[in-house]
Amino acid sequence: MSEQFTVWHHDQIGSTNDEVRRMAQDGAPHGTVVHADEQTAGRGRMAHAWFSPPGNLYLSILLRTGQPAARSAELSFLAALAVADTVEALLPRQMRAMLKWPNDVLLNGAKIAGILLEQVDEAVVIGIGLNVLEAPSNAAYKTTTIVANGGIASVDGARDILLDRIGRHLAVWQADGFVPIREQWLGRSYPIGAAIRVTSGGAPVAGHFAGLAADGALLLDTPKGRQRIVAGDVVPTGG
Ligand code: BTN
Repeated sequence: MSEQFTVWHHDQIGSTNDEVRRMAQDGAPHGTVVHADEQTAGRGRMAHAWFSPPGNLYLSILLRTGQPAARSAELSFLAALAVADTVEALLPRQMRAMLKWPNDVLLNGAKIAGILLEQVDEAVVIGIGLNVLEAPSNAAYKTTTIVANGGIASVDGARDILLDRIGRHLAVWQADGFVPIREQWLGRSYPIGAAIRVTSGGAPVAGHFAGLAADGALLLDTPKGRQRIVAGDVVPTGG
């Protein structure tokens, strides 16, 4: 595991993100990590609950990067890359994880992990849930696990690989900024020009994926011109 992280392990916790938020407010340092075997109040994006039984990875990382909060969203792309690396390292052959904006990690079109990034004053909390053994059967989208794809059933192994990859990508981000992270992310997402539909508050908008803006916003080419999307859900339409 990368040396820059200090891991606090809990058998069970409400939410690792809530615990790291609390520790951040108490002045915990950069690199503080909370890992729990099980969450009783795991949280997902858009106030959804996150399915958190024993058998999966639940961890949250406190980062004090010294960069302005305006750049924090870049870290969710960095985290998605690290999760994709981890998923691929745990799988038997050359299976490829795919990234879907803003920070979903998919395997054969099914969600295998979730990332929840939260700002706490000048610090950032990155919460990651990775389905190693268990996946919810009642989600509104397809879900899968590492084990269902013939991968290695090691939660602690997944944690160590993930922290190592986060550390490596963070070093690149600190040295060279968002550009290399953005390029790697684009290399693992839909191809430019792919037909997608984006729901962002109002009615869904159909268009073609036109890449990421310099700040990570999704660019969507529509019959009415190029749109910049800062929040929402994307589905491929294959049209
Ligand atoms: C999503 O909705 O896709 C994001 C899910 C994030 C879940 C992780 S599990 C560890 C951390 N603690 C939480 O309560 N949520 C995040």
